[in-house]
Amino acid sequence: MKIKTTTRLNKYIAESGLTSRRKAEELILQGRVTVNNKTITKLAFEVDPDNDNVFVDGEKIQPAEHVYYLLNKPKGVVTTTDDEKKRKTVVDLIISKQKIFPVGRLDYNTTGVLILTNDGDFAQKLLHPKHNIVREYEVALDKELSLEDEKKLLKGIFIDGSRSRFSEISYGKKSSGKNVIVKCTEGRNHFVKKMFSTLNYTVIKLNRKSFAGITADIPVGSYRKLKQHELQKLTK
Ligand code: URA
Repeated sequence: MKIKTTTRLNKYIAESGLTSRRKAEELILQGRVTVNNKTITKLAFEVDPDNDNVFVDGEKIQPAEHVYYLLNKPKGVVTTTDDEKKRKTVVDLIISKQKIFPVGRLDYNTTGVLILTNDGDFAQKLLHPKHNIVREYEVALDKELSLEDEKKLLKGIFIDGSRSRFSEISYGKKSSGKNVIVKCTEGRNHFVKKMFSTLNYTVIKLNRKSFAGITADIPVGSYRKLKQHELQKLTK
C-alpha cells in the first residue's frame, strides 16, 4: 500500500495556525497563496510538507509543531474553542502558542480527563468509533442502581435509536449503589446521562476517570503535556 505523504493545501495552511481551513480556502481562491513560486487557486491542490514551499501574501508558512495536553477539566467550563455566550472554555485554561482544540467533549459540569491538541488527524483517529477507545466515568446517581438495571445497561438499551451499552459497571469506594464506575467505548454527546435517564436515574455528578488509559494524575483545573509514552500508547 502506498502511504500518502501529501496534504491538502488549505489543511496545511490551517495547521500552521494562520487561520481556519475555510478561511484558507478563501485565501487560495483569492490568489494569495503560492506553492514553489506558482500561484495556486485550485482548492484540491496537494502539497508535500517536506519538499514544497508555501507562501501566503509573500510570507512563508511554517507548519506548527504538534502539541498534546491532558487537562483535568473543572466544572463550569465549556468544551469548545469559542463560546457564543462568552463562557469560559477549556482552551482558555491552557497557555499554548498553538491553536489547540479539545478531542471530543465533556459537558459543562463534567470533570476529568480531556485531551487537547492542534493535531487534527490524531484527534480524528482517537474519536473514530472503529478504534473502540475506552472511556471510564465515575457517576453519582440520585438513587441506588438496581441489579436489574445494571444488567440492562450491560446488555444494551436503545438510546437515540441505536443499541447502546456499558462494557463494565463497578461500584465506587463509598460502597453505595449510588456511586458507580462505568466503562464504555461511546463518544456520543451526553451518552452516560442518556443511558441512565432512559432507566429513570439522574446523574448528579460525572467525572471522566480515564480516556484511552490516560488518567488524570493532576489536580482538577490543571493541565500538563502528554508524556512520550502516553502519546505512543494513543497513536498505536
Ligand atoms: N456522557 C455524558 O453524559 N456527559 C459527559 O460529559 C460525558 C459523557
